[in-house]
Amino acid sequence: MSTLVNVRDLRKTYGLGSAYTEVLKGLNLTIAAGEFVAIMGPSGSGKSTLMHILGLLDRPTSGVYELDDLLVASLPEDRLAELRNLKLGFVFQAFNLLPRTSSWENVALPLVYNRNFSTAERKIAAEQALQAVGLQERYKSLPNQLSGGEQQRVAIARALVGNPQIIFADEPTGNLDTKNSMEIMQILRQLNVAGRTVILVTHEPDIAKFAHRIITMRDGSIVNDEINPHPTQ
Ligand SMILES: Nc1ncnc2c1ncn2[C@@H]1O[C@H](COP(=O)(O)OP(=O)(O)OP(=O)(O)O)[C@@H](O)[C@H]1O
Ligand SMILES: [Mg+2]
Repeated sequence: MSTLVNVRDLRKTYGLGSAYTEVLKGLNLTIAAGEFVAIMGPSGSGKSTLMHILGLLDRPTSGVYELDDLLVASLPEDRLAELRNLKLGFVFQAFNLLPRTSSWENVALPLVYNRNFSTAERKIAAEQALQAVGLQERYKSLPNQLSGGEQQRVAIARALVGNPQIIFADEPTGNLDTKNSMEIMQILRQLNVAGRTVILVTHEPDIAKFAHRIITMRDGSIVNDEINPHPTQ
């Protein structure tokens, strides 16, 4: 399979002098197209920092990052924004839906800046994405009319609507009970079966077991990287 993410000696530091902290300490990582990877590790170990860099939301202090053979450091900000919009989808612990805005309009939001979509096409794409998460009947509902699990499904539909290559999910089940967590993980699993690369951050072992590969971070380094021979179905 082709390499999608290729990271060499990636470092991230914050602050200066005595306040200087190295949050990522020279990571090496490759992820192939079609993988389902979980990143685990204690609070503060650098999971979100790594995900933000991989997702082009932040830049490393040093090191090489190639995304789909593009050298990220060489790209200007507007090109990064375009790549984020076209290739990447994000799901966070907080669902981050706009209040007083219907499901389909929340889902269509990432397409507003996409000149390839007319208004009518945006609506169709949003409805298809809602269908993919089993919420087509709730397309008119407002966030406060939906359960937490349903709101997260809308957020996943929003991540999907631009047909991204990679879905980044940072603690997507962190605010959900077990039943809703399992539903969200089934959706991510099905998206992966359909060919999308999924990169998931979690500190819950039962959630990580859906992934085919589990990476463990500690104190800014990768301390374990192993294949999960029996991913949860
Ligand atoms: N903007 C920032 N300025 C200074 N330090 C930061 C900044 N962002 C993150 N850090 C520090 O970097 C370290 C790693 O943070 P990060 O959010 O990546 O951890 P995490 O593994 O995602 O933790 P959690 O499981 O709690 O979400 C932490 O010690 C954090 O305090
Ligand atoms: Mg985090």
